[in-house]
Parts: sequence; structure tokens; C-alpha cells
Amino acid sequence: MSHIRGNTMVNVGQNILSFYILLTLTQNIQGQNTSTPHIVLIVADDLGWNDVSWNNPDIKTPNLERLALGGVILNQSYVQPVCTPSRTAFMTGYFPYHVGRQNTYIHHLQPSGVFLNYTYLPEKLKQLGYSTHVVGKWHLGYCNWSYTPTFRGFDSFFGYYLGSEDYYTHETHPSEFKNRGLNEQLFLDFRNNTKPAKGYDGIYSTQVFSKATTELISRLSPRVPTFLYLPFQAVHSPLEVPQKYQDMYNNIKDVNRRKYSGMVTALDEAIGNITIALKKFGFYGNSIIAFTTDNGGQVYAGGNNWPLRGNKDTLWEGGTRGPAFVHSPLLNRTGFVTDNLFHAVDWLPTLLHVAHGQADPGIDGIDQWNMINGYGTPPRNEFIYNIYDTNTSRTRGAIRVGDYKLIIGSGGSPSGWFPPPTVNCTNLSNYTIYQQNPLEDQIYLFNIRNDPTEHHNLVTSSPHIVDKLRRRLLQHKATMIPADDPPDDPKGNPKLWNNIFSPGWCKAKGIKRF
Ligand SMILES: *[C@@H]1O[C@H](CO)[C@@H](O)[C@H](O)[C@H]1NC(C)=O
Ligand SMILES: *[C@@H]1O[C@H](CO)[C@@H](O)[C@H](O)[C@H]1NC(C)=O
Ligand SMILES: *[C@@H]1O[C@H](CO)[C@@H](O)[C@H](O)[C@H]1NC(C)=O
Ligand SMILES: *[C@@H]1O[C@H](CO)[C@@H](O)[C@H](O)[C@H]1NC(C)=O
Ligand SMILES: *[C@@H]1O[C@H](CO)[C@@H](O)[C@H](O)[C@H]1NC(C)=O
Ligand SMILES: *[C@@H]1O[C@H](CO)[C@@H](O)[C@H](O)[C@H]1NC(C)=O
Ligand SMILES: *[C@@H]1O[C@H](CO)[C@@H](O)[C@H](O)[C@H]1NC(C)=O
Ligand SMILES: *[C@@H]1O[C@H](CO)[C@@H](O)[C@H](O)[C@H]1NC(C)=O
Ligand SMILES: *[C@@H]1O[C@H](CO)[C@@H](O)[C@H](O)[C@H]1NC(C)=O
Ligand SMILES: *[C@@H]1O[C@H](CO)[C@@H](O)[C@H](O)[C@H]1NC(C)=O
Ligand SMILES: *[C@@H]1O[C@H](CO)[C@@H](O)[C@H](O)[C@H]1NC(C)=O
Repeated sequence: MSHIRGNTMVNVGQNILSFYILLTLTQNIQGQNTSTPHIVLIVADDLGWNDVSWNNPDIKTPNLERLALGGVILNQSYVQPVCTPSRTAFMTGYFPYHVGRQNTYIHHLQPSGVFLNYTYLPEKLKQLGYSTHVVGKWHLGYCNWSYTPTFRGFDSFFGYYLGSEDYYTHETHPSEFKNRGLNEQLFLDFRNNTKPAKGYDGIYSTQVFSKATTELISRLSPRVPTFLYLPFQAVHSPLEVPQKYQDMYNNIKDVNRRKYSGMVTALDEAIGNITIALKKFGFYGNSIIAFTTDNGGQVYAGGNNWPLRGNKDTLWEGGTRGPAFVHSPLLNRTGFVTDNLFHAVDWLPTLLHVAHGQADPGIDGIDQWNMINGYGTPPRNEFIYNIYDTNTSRTRGAIRVGDYKLIIGSGGSPSGWFPPPTVNCTNLSNYTIYQQNPLEDQIYLFNIRNDPTEHHNLVTSSPHIVDKLRRRLLQHKATMIPADDPPDDPKGNPKLWNNIFSPGWCKAKGIKRF
């Protein structure tokens, strides 16, 4: 008896000893960590202003909220109206109207990608000794291998090339939604580096990506500065989510909103899992975690931007102002909300500062690290929401200067204000009273500080400000490069590529600098 007991005590003692050895070892590993911080850039897809718990208590995002409240919330963080342009801004530090990506996203069979003469953030980070990885959605071109992640600065890629697909089968249609035949075949778009990734049928992508990321973290060394770019599929349509997340919102009667909210909570759990892995494997203490959406919420598919005006794919605040924060144990001051202007193009120079590097001269992005750290004069007073390249004799775009925003042409549609649907409200004709036709050749001037929801058009009362901002917008328009929007090319049809969306059917444009 006593012998056994003694043994047990010795075991307990050994366990405690091992625990302390482990603790000391871990501390040593962390103590030896590189002084260059790890960078984790998390991008949610189509997540609206009103789709995170710090802006809307009906949404359950406890992990994101903990990171946000323990960091710095960027309350005026702006992105482009749709995916490819925002991702272009993240990767290049240029406004998409300077890159030829201003008009829309890259279509499935479009022979196009971001020109090779724009150097991507991971290419710059690699020069600084970083290990670089992307898990999730690419959407920056795939028709030529040189447009794809592992040819563009990433050591590894796990994810998909296109803009949306089924969350479980990881398949999508070759043609665009509008022209799609009802029985059109679906094809896989899922890769591990350059190889098709086949064993994931039936597994929800948010779970696949969080597991792929935590496994990756477990294999990497915290002594090597690491860049993780994590552009999740969630919460873009189609509305798909495991039942247990949907069941957390049984109070929401609107089916789309209920599913969508569940998708947001699954995403939140994935990010919680990744945070745990960063801590467990010794990365967290020396890391910068940045979070942003890529554009506003899609009210036709469960998303919500209330009380902001408009939708994804519009120049209104609801399309362009999104949830964002920076969380890091390395920040001097945390737990505050900043109302200073921040734009998607600013991530590149800001993160390069953190990495002890420097952005190339001539980019549009501004290093905002001091602003995020809560000191110095806010460096950004102006930005371009977008300038479209659709009709040379007409301008469509928007600019912000200080508190003022000028929209020329059309702000985009739907342009109303959409409260979160409580009963089945996703039939938007219920909102007709709020909607306006997107009349062309209109001009709007708003004071966003006083009127963040864009209710009061100041065009007639403030003609001088209109003139000043219009001149400024036209000056910027003169520096625009033409949009690269070639028509679809049937050579990319996956039927010709082993039934998998694959590179190899277009010439890449632009001369690579590195
Ligand atoms: C988070 O991790 C837990 C435990 O491993 C797992 O059961 C869960 O599916 C993960 N969640 C997501 C969204 O990946
Ligand atoms: C991708 O491939 C590598 C190398 O074969 C493997 O170690 C890794 O587990 C794969 N990743 C996923 C998420 O399957
Ligand atoms: C990693 O190194 C940095 C810089 O030396 C230090 O401030 C930080 O506390 C370290 N992280 C951990 C987890 O020890
Ligand atoms: C903290 O603030 C000081 C100036 O007050 C600055 O020198 C230092 O770089 C800041 N730390 C970080 C992580 O930015
Ligand atoms: C964040 O922005 C919203 C919308 O403009 C505003 O109501 C709120 O006061 C801002 N919060 C802070 C702390 O500036
Ligand atoms: C371009 O804009 C001009 C001036 O508003 C208009 O007359 C013309 O029809 C437009 N062209 C196209 C192709 O939309
Ligand atoms: C909402 O829509 C669903 C699916 O169309 C329908 O089954 C349900 O009865 C509707 N609920 C209300 C309150 O209208
Ligand atoms: C949406 O509502 C309008 C007006 O109430 C109705 O005419 C229309 O049929 C509805 N559409 C759908 C898809 O339910
Ligand atoms: C939407 O409009 C239809 C038709 O007018 C109406 O029956 C339905 O109750 C409305 N839904 C809500 C949530 O107001
Ligand atoms: C990819 O683009 C390069 C540069 O334009 C071109 O030389 C190459 O032939 C292209 N690859 C294919 C398979 O078309
Ligand atoms: C990149 O190449 C495109 C297409 O050739 C060109 O229009 C653009 O000016 C170049 N941009 C830079 C920054 O070199």
C-alpha cells in the first residue's frame, strides 16, 4: 500500500518536476525568440460592420472581441468594395486604380492576375528573413503559375484560387453566376502548394483552414520570424455552416441571417484555435495579429452593415468601412478605439515597419505603426475609395479628405440602410422605402464625422468643398492605369485540366522586379 502510495507521490513529484522543466524550457525558447516579430494577417471575407460583437451584441465573436478589446480597434478602417481589389491593396500597398484592378474581382476563366511588377508583402518579408505562408483564399489570379502564391513570395500555400466555392466539396462552376446553366458541372479548386488537395471532401473549410494553420504553426520555429496570411473563406456566400453553430442563433428567424451568424461564430472559433496554437508553440509573445474584412457585408446573403449605408460592391460606407483591429503584446498601449483614418493599402508599410523593413518608394500606403501605438500625429488625412475605369468621358469614384467624402457618378446599389433582419427580411423589397435608384452622374458630399451614415447630402450647401474634392479626385484619376479586364478564355475550363481549376493557360503580364 504505502509502497504504491510512495510511488504515486514520486510520480506526482516527477510530474511537477517535468512541468517546471517544461516551463523553463518554454521560457528559454521564448527568451531566445527573434526580436523581429511574427506577423499574422487575418482576413475575413464579406464580413460587415454590424457582424462583429463589438459593433453588434447579437453576434457571438468572443475570441475576436478578446483580441480586439485587448488591442487597438481601428474604427475607421477602409477597404475596397470587393475582394480582389482589397487583396491587391493588402499585398501591394497600392490603390487598385494604380494596379489595373479597380473595376471588379477576377472571374473564374478570366486570363488575368495582378501584374508581376508589383512586389508583394511576403516577397519583401522574405528579403528580411521571414518564413511566409498563406492558408485560405487567394483570388489574385491563377491562370499563369507566376501569379500564384508560391511564385509570389509565399513558402507555402494551402487553399483555393478563386473567389467562392462550396464550403464542403471545395468545388465551383467555371462560368460566372449569371450565365451558369442549371446543370453546369462543378470542379475542384483546392491546393496544397502547387498540388491539388483531394482528401478534404465533406470537411467545412473554416475547420480545414484552422487545422491546417495550427498544424503549420506546430511545425514552424518561433525563432524564425514568420508571416502567416490567413484569408478565410468565411463568411462569403454560399451560406453553409455545421448545424451546431447555426443552433446558437435560434432566436434569429431569418434563415439567411441565422446561417450567416453561425458562420461568423465558426470563424471566431477558428481564430480562437489559431491564437491558442500561437501561444502553445511560443509565437504569441512576439507577434502582431492584424484582423480586417475585405469589403462590406452582402445583405443579399446574410451580411449586415447597419447603421452604415449600402452594401458590398458599393462606394457607400457600408461597402468600404469594415471591422479591423491590431492585437499584440508588443504594443505600448492597448484597449482603445482609434477613429483615425486607416486604409487597406496601409497594412504593407505598417507591417514592414514592424518587420524592421521598408516599403518601396511610390506606394500609396502609409506606415501607421505609430498611430496604432497611440502616439504622433495621425499620418493619413486623405484616401481614394476607388476610381473605376469604365467610361473615359465620365468619372465614377469617391474620395475622402479629412471628415469629408465626395462621391461622383454612382455610389452603387443597393444604396439603402438595412437593419439586421429579425423576421425573414432578406427579401430586400421590404426595404424599398429606403432604397434609391443608383442614378448615374450624381454627386454626394458627406461629413462622415457628423454623419457617418450618409443621410445628409451637402452638395448644395457646401459648393466650395465639392469643388476642392472634385479637383483632388480628378488629379488622382489622371494617374490611373487602365483596368485589366480581358474577356473569359475557355482555355481555362477545368474540363481541359483534369477537372481541376489549374494554372497554365495565359501569359502573365508585367516584369517581375525580384
Ligand atoms: C477548434 O478546435 C477544437 C479542438 O481541437 C475543434 O474541435 C474545433 O472543431 C476547432 N474549431 C474550428 C472552427 O476549427
Ligand atoms: C500539405 O502538404 C505537406 C507536404 O506534403 C504536408 O506536410 C501537409 O500536411 C499538407 N497540408 C495539409 C493541410 O494537408
Ligand atoms: C520575445 O522577444 C521579445 C523581444 O525580445 C520579448 O519582448 C517578448 O516578451 C518575447 N516573447 C516571449 C513570449 O517571451
Ligand atoms: C513605444 O513607444 C516608444 C516611444 O514612446 C517607442 O520608442 C517604441 O518604439 C514604442 N514601441 C513600439 C513597440 O512601438
Ligand atoms: C466608431 O465609429 C462609430 C460610427 O461612426 C461612432 O459612432 C463611434 O463613436 C466611434 N467610436 C469611437 C470610440 O470613436
Ligand atoms: C460614357 O459616358 C458618356 C457621358 O456621360 C455617355 O454619353 C456615354 O454613353 C457613355 N458610354 C458608355 C459606353 O457607357
Ligand atoms: C422564413 O423563410 C423560411 C424559408 O423560406 C420559411 O420556412 C419560414 O416560414 C419563414 N418565416 C417567416 C417568419 O416568414
Ligand atoms: C419579395 O417581396 C415582394 C413584395 O412583398 C414580393 O412581390 C416578391 O414576390 C418577394 N420575393 C420573394 C423572392 O419572396
Ligand atoms: C415583407 O413584405 C411582405 C409583403 O409586403 C410582408 O408580408 C412581410 O411581413 C414583410 N416582412 C417584414 C419582416 O416586414
Ligand atoms: C506565363 O507567363 C509568362 C510571361 O508572360 C510566359 O512566358 C509563359 O509562357 C506563361 N506560361 C504559360 C504556360 O502560358
Ligand atoms: C506595372 O506594369 C503595368 C503594366 O505594364 C504598368 O501600367 C504600371 O505602370 C507598372 N507599375 C509600376 C509601379 O511599375
